[in-house]
Amino acid sequence: MNPSSLALPHVAKLHAYTPGLQPSEPGWVKLNTNECPYPPSPRVAAALRREIGEDGVSLRLYPNPKSTPLRAAVAQLHGLREENVCIGNGSDDILNLLVRCFCTQDAAAGFTLPSYSLYPVLVGIQDGTSTIIEFDRTMRLPVERLAASPARVFFLTSPNAPTGVGFANAEIERVLSTYAGLLVVDEAYAPFASENTVSLLARYPNLVIVRTLSKAYALAGIRVGYALADPGVIGLLDRVRDSYNVNRLSQAAALAALEDQAYFETIVARVKATRDRAVRGFAETRGWFTYPSQANFIFTEPKNARGETGPAVAKAAYDFLCSRKVLVRHFPSHALTAPFLRISVGTDQEMQVLNDTLDAWLKAPPNA
Ligand SMILES: Cc1ncc(COP(=O)(O)O)c(C=O)c1O
Repeated sequence: MNPSSLALPHVAKLHAYTPGLQPSEPGWVKLNTNECPYPPSPRVAAALRREIGEDGVSLRLYPNPKSTPLRAAVAQLHGLREENVCIGNGSDDILNLLVRCFCTQDAAAGFTLPSYSLYPVLVGIQDGTSTIIEFDRTMRLPVERLAASPARVFFLTSPNAPTGVGFANAEIERVLSTYAGLLVVDEAYAPFASENTVSLLARYPNLVIVRTLSKAYALAGIRVGYALADPGVIGLLDRVRDSYNVNRLSQAAALAALEDQAYFETIVARVKATRDRAVRGFAETRGWFTYPSQANFIFTEPKNARGETGPAVAKAAYDFLCSRKVLVRHFPSHALTAPFLRISVGTDQEMQVLNDTLDAWLKAPPNA
């Protein structure tokens, strides 16, 4: 008997999420998964050592099931109450919980294309339905279409991925005031943006904000994210989540990182300065169409030595960079993303290597 034939039909048909490559050998300039190029606050390593202790004895014990001290710290950071916060094993965990709570075959989850490609995967796991709103090349928020969406829950990434384009609060507020479902604003990149929607929470109970410590707090490896929402919504997430969804070490590390806001602000400012220089370099110096970025990555349309653009040109640039151990991201499956590369903001030195390698690509004979 083939045990996998017992799987539910929708599970048998699933396609797993494709994460960005994580090469195990050294020597790569890794600009493909929007991690922070700088280490986390030094307080994180100290907190981890403290939590483990001399002999790791504390690891015998389960963690705080609700991540209560972390909820309190997040609430304080955003001027909210603990009841407004749920902590997840990365923000992906929170997104998963939201799909579990609000999406079925009869209740659709909505998202835009392009946006974070995990949403359709989560809907597939749930055997739910989805409804899609396509951007056009301007990447402007289609406010009216969003407000009229029949989705029970709508995932809006702001700043958007992989474009880096941020949406104004005034526009999001127009959606919130008309839309009949739950609007989840995935703010994974909001610390790098000029606006975020936290101030709208008090007025719009249909708003859920999702944040992560993976990017701006340099803690992708520790897997902590959170939801900010109406206490009723938080209560639902708490019913659905694993009872110990965030481990001891992650709770300690996240608390230490949140406590060091001065460090956080310094590295965010550094990433933004490098990003703004990179956007200018691509758009003005190279003359490549590049979206204004409110995130820690840039989305640029490579032009080859003959001045051509398009999916094949982007793929050629990607392959050349890869052959020189510079890793960026190419999303070939959508017409609006296929001619572009998404490049995470690295250190100034890494961005220099990227630029030198692109210069070498432009000088290389075709098909090099
Ligand atoms: C828009 C968006 N949301 C959520 C995540 C996931 O973050 P986490 O590491 O907290 O699961 C990512 C990661 O790349 C992302 O781009």
